[in-house]
Amino acid sequence: MTEKPDISAYRESAAYIRTAMDQAGFCGKPALAVILGSGLGSFAESEQVRRKTEIPYRDIPGFPTSTVSYQKGVLSVGDVDGKTVLFFNGRFHYYEGWEMWQTAYPIAVCHLLGVETMILTNAAGGICPERVKPGDIVCVTDHIKLCAESPVRGKNLPELGERFFDMQSVYNKGLIRTAHRLAQNLGFDVGEGVYAYMAGPQFETPAEIRMLRAVGADLVGMSTVAEVIEAAHCGMRVLCLSCVSNLAAGVTGEPMTEREVLETGKAIAGRFSALMGALIREI
Ligand code: HPA
Repeated sequence: MTEKPDISAYRESAAYIRTAMDQAGFCGKPALAVILGSGLGSFAESEQVRRKTEIPYRDIPGFPTSTVSYQKGVLSVGDVDGKTVLFFNGRFHYYEGWEMWQTAYPIAVCHLLGVETMILTNAAGGICPERVKPGDIVCVTDHIKLCAESPVRGKNLPELGERFFDMQSVYNKGLIRTAHRLAQNLGFDVGEGVYAYMAGPQFETPAEIRMLRAVGADLVGMSTVAEVIEAAHCGMRVLCLSCVSNLAAGVTGEPMTEREVLETGKAIAGRFSALMGALIREI
């Protein structure tokens, strides 16, 4: 078990990123930060992001390094219509062996860099086909975490936030409204749903999915929730967009594969990029 460090480690990571930003001519606080989930990394490479500078995670002191093969493990700093945005291309999952606090580490570092708004994205399985279908982009309105582990367990770092904190408004309603409006302007709808966190890496059993449906979940995935908890701890606003890559276990009886997750990501990429660009310009 890797012990949670004190605030100086987080500060060192933030200072390294700040220096790299200064050297690349990015002055001032980042307007927002985006975590790009499985199969969704290409936005940071698109034309919409200008004057990009890339900081490999392995160069940032104290930063975990991505072990998921198709995630780049790079922080891209770029300019979208005059706004400085941090794009985390690759995230840390509990199933890789990271401690839960490590999976949320980039969020705390963003807070120290002055970021107040985060867009978190992921691929997720759809539990309720009446509400969410593969290919849909869904705004997460709330979450369910059934495992006891938490990124803020253990010693509290008061520089980040309070010991006990509210979780009722972290999925920001105003940002969700904005996502609906911007998607409609682009000619499609986004859904809304509750995301259930499962630790993975195995996909769920049909019985687990039936349980999740019974307790009110619409989506299931293996990421994001620890990041949202740290964001709430730090007092940030979050917009979480799930790209529904498949119907969850037992819904269709088909076998589940990682390839399906990545391929649906590619099919969604056009709509996802258009929405992401519009969101960054507006919020
Ligand atoms: N279950 C868990 N995680 C996922 C799924 C799923 O069905 N699809 C994409 N990520």
